[in-house]
Amino acid sequence: MKVLIIGNGGREHALAWKISESEQVSKIYMARGNGGTESFAENLDIDPTNIDELLKFAKENKIDLTVVGPEDPLCDGIVDAFRDNGLKIFGPNKECARFEKSKEFTKKFSEKYNIRTAKYKSFTNYDDALSGLKEYDYPFVIKADGLCLGKGVSICENKEEAVDALSKIFKDRIFGDEGDTVVIEEFLTGEEASVLCLVSNNKLFPLERAKDHKQIFDGDKGPNTGGVGTYSPVAASEKLEENLNKIYRQIEDGLDAENLKYSGILFIGFMIEKDVPKVLEFNVRFGDPETEVLMPRLDCDLFEILNKTIDGTLKEEDIKWKDEACLTVIMCSGGYPDSYEKGKVITGLEDVDSDIIVFHNGTKKEEKLLTNGGRVLSVTSLASTLKEAREKAYKNVEKIKFDKAYYRKDIGTK
Ligand code: AMP
Ligand code: GLY
Repeated sequence: MKVLIIGNGGREHALAWKISESEQVSKIYMARGNGGTESFAENLDIDPTNIDELLKFAKENKIDLTVVGPEDPLCDGIVDAFRDNGLKIFGPNKECARFEKSKEFTKKFSEKYNIRTAKYKSFTNYDDALSGLKEYDYPFVIKADGLCLGKGVSICENKEEAVDALSKIFKDRIFGDEGDTVVIEEFLTGEEASVLCLVSNNKLFPLERAKDHKQIFDGDKGPNTGGVGTYSPVAASEKLEENLNKIYRQIEDGLDAENLKYSGILFIGFMIEKDVPKVLEFNVRFGDPETEVLMPRLDCDLFEILNKTIDGTLKEEDIKWKDEACLTVIMCSGGYPDSYEKGKVITGLEDVDSDIIVFHNGTKKEEKLLTNGGRVLSVTSLASTLKEAREKAYKNVEKIKFDKAYYRKDIGTK
């Protein structure tokens, strides 16, 4: 069977790595892939957002399964286009991708189906939003409605910051049309956790929980990033499990009631306080770097369960996990998430222990392996305890070098 994976990051590297284990898979193509995927897959020079080219390639090469990594092609309707052409593809259709394309859509859905989330209001112009601020106590959160590469959220501590955030969105239009609507919501406190669910015919199959580290500096300080370290599993009390299950059932009922046909991954970002989870966001794709710790723990054939998800034949017992803990530390380019340089030579990968997996987030292979993004490498370790996984990951991070490399030192210490 031939598989096409769309995307360039560590998430796609981890998906491809796991799919390559399947005895049913003979060939993996990546669009575009990176310096890490080219050792076992064929990297294609096709942009992950170019749906026409991707479709042409999949048809001509008789691809058996396409797996979509990033949100943009999903929100632009890649799944609808492939299905219309009789091609099998893993991901939600355009209608369902609105859960990520629009924060207001997700807030309205959550409100309608009594799913716990932060109280909110949405606005479509600067003046109304400014008057709306009066209803909130500081801090509160201002979010551009659309896709903003993880940069659309501002936590505002005072009026000055709130006015600045609104003015950048509505007046400077830093997010263009993606900022046509703004959601203002109450600030939630607690611990964040990500749950990725396989969704087959609107039924949710939650995968093991993973804990992301969004802020760039140790102690959860500094600006938000796409995520610079993760671990799995994350323990939960019985009460929390019960509350999470209630939310999964509410989502399933809501999908049915709205006559949506959800298939693919639904990534639920939760804020949890005293065993009470509240929904922060929905994404319609695998998380990055959550996927980097889930794939090594998955103890079944990913190709098979993705197919079963699409076919509607998935059962809970098909999804199996290793008992071990997994932790990944992301090595970043100095300066990320703001500006950073690319093209730095990466050395030391050959010295990494054989039981460490290094997924590539942003690299390219020329004569040498070079950095090619803000997040560069996910140094991933599977071990019998989280502590051991952390120690092994950090010991190996120290062996890898590139100019201005930066990483958090406290992943998994909480
Ligand atoms: P989002 O893209 O909506 O998940 O927001 C990105 C990050 O901003 C989240 O992972 C949280 O760390 C933070 N955040 C978003 N909404 C809230 C909220 N209502 N209260 C506290 N933190 C939030
Ligand atoms: N790690 C967070 C995300 O993938 O959105």
